[in-house]
Amino acid sequence: MTISFTVSSTAPGRVRADVLAVPVFADRELGAGGDVVTAGFEGRLDRFLERAGFEGKVGQTLLVPLTHTPGVALLVGLGAAADVTVDSLRTAAATVAQRASGLARVSTTLADAAPESLDRAAVGQAIVEGVVLGSYAFDDYRRAKKATKITAVTVVVADGAAVVKRGVARGEAVANAVVWARNMVNMPARELSPEAFARAATQLLRGRGVRVEVFDVPAMRRQRLGGILGVGQGSKQPPRLVKMTYNPAGARGSIALVGKGVVFDSGGLSLKTGSGMETMKTDMGGAAAVIAAMSALAALDVKTKVVAYTPMVENMPSGEAIRPGDVLTFRNGKTAEVLNTDAEGRLILADGLSLAAEGKPDAIIDLATLTGACMVALGDKIAGLMSNDDALRDRVEAAAQRSGESVWRLPLPKEYRKLIDSEIADIKNIGSGGYGGALTAGLFLEEFVNGVPWVHLDIAGPGRAAADDGVVRKGGTGFGVRTLLELVSDPLPRRRR
Ligand code: BES
Ligand code: MN
Ligand code: ZN
Repeated sequence: MTISFTVSSTAPGRVRADVLAVPVFADRELGAGGDVVTAGFEGRLDRFLERAGFEGKVGQTLLVPLTHTPGVALLVGLGAAADVTVDSLRTAAATVAQRASGLARVSTTLADAAPESLDRAAVGQAIVEGVVLGSYAFDDYRRAKKATKITAVTVVVADGAAVVKRGVARGEAVANAVVWARNMVNMPARELSPEAFARAATQLLRGRGVRVEVFDVPAMRRQRLGGILGVGQGSKQPPRLVKMTYNPAGARGSIALVGKGVVFDSGGLSLKTGSGMETMKTDMGGAAAVIAAMSALAALDVKTKVVAYTPMVENMPSGEAIRPGDVLTFRNGKTAEVLNTDAEGRLILADGLSLAAEGKPDAIIDLATLTGACMVALGDKIAGLMSNDDALRDRVEAAAQRSGESVWRLPLPKEYRKLIDSEIADIKNIGSGGYGGALTAGLFLEEFVNGVPWVHLDIAGPGRAAADDGVVRKGGTGFGVRTLLELVSDPLPRRRR
């Protein structure tokens, strides 16, 4: 069931709903719609809130009965009014969705809590993202469903409804894309073979202005995709490569996306431990985010040409698996000695990046749940960002910032390049010494972008959440979809060649 959103300039007390969610700032200062809440309390509401310990701090909520429609108010703490951001409104909307999950119709004046300085469309978008993502539940395998009961949300604004409405429409497109990515990430690998994943992508993108080509094993042999074929050869489930093309009329600039799609990462013959592979069905989060982003381009009226490649493989040990010491030859002709079959992500991305670079796009962005080392460095909420181009890196950082996803710069140190020198091949797939694993992985990838401006996002941490937190629900997060859509919505300056 999807939630329907309406923007209305009707007085908050007259909107038909089961609950009205009202923002409250620090020191119990009621925001827009506060008059609806205080009416009938004859000045005693503030004392009640004080006794109830409700101060209007960020994250606090309180349900209050009303003697008039809609009968229930949900007070939502936002902290100091001047500190309210698009991001804090997104989180507040998620909190509303959680607290009101048992009711069908929610109205809210949250949008009018935004300071003047904030873009009203961005505010509308964030509220929708907050509600949809904050009420996400993966119920496919549960008999006692956890799905929200919310079916309709009315965003009540005093004025400027048209602008907010535009943001709400964007928010619906973005949030639906994130939900699809989360569903894919949460799906057990038994259900999501590379073939099934490719089929799901094809189905999702039907009628969305994206051309989809699926490469099977013979097609990948013809294309000399030695990395994808090599990693895929240990599994009974053959690998796939999905190429997606969005080329709107009058496109300005072009961008290529590459996403790691390891549907299950056992480590291969360099087998992971039992606990190490518990979450490894989520090792396709990069591909899921890329495909999901592709699905929203037309709805967002993106003017940039976008080409995406998502290699999909299952990394398994078997008599047919690649061995430590084997050498693979990639699409661009370079060779790598595979010393650890668990460093498989870079092997499939090598082919994807080579293909992306051949198209000579203005920029390449890859998303990959690539290294545990990146999680050690940045924890599980922040993606590592590595790049060969300062201007592009700034743009991606700005897009991430606007979208409310956290990224942090890591270097690609020239002096570490020798750590991936191989005794027998052009490079090897793990770094000598074992330190700086996120960086040696990034340096490996850089070998395949052929100098095209490129950003690598290591999403090993934020691709999956260990606990509910704001708009994020435990499990697959769909991390990266919002940043990508923000980035491509903002046309790239043409690269001089
Ligand atoms: N998919 C893993 C990285 C990962 C680990 C993602 C934990 C999410 C959570 C990747 O394929 C991997 O196994 N990387 C190895 C590389 C090493 C063998 C050089 C790692 O990080 O241990
Ligand atoms: Mn691995
Ligand atoms: Zn992996």
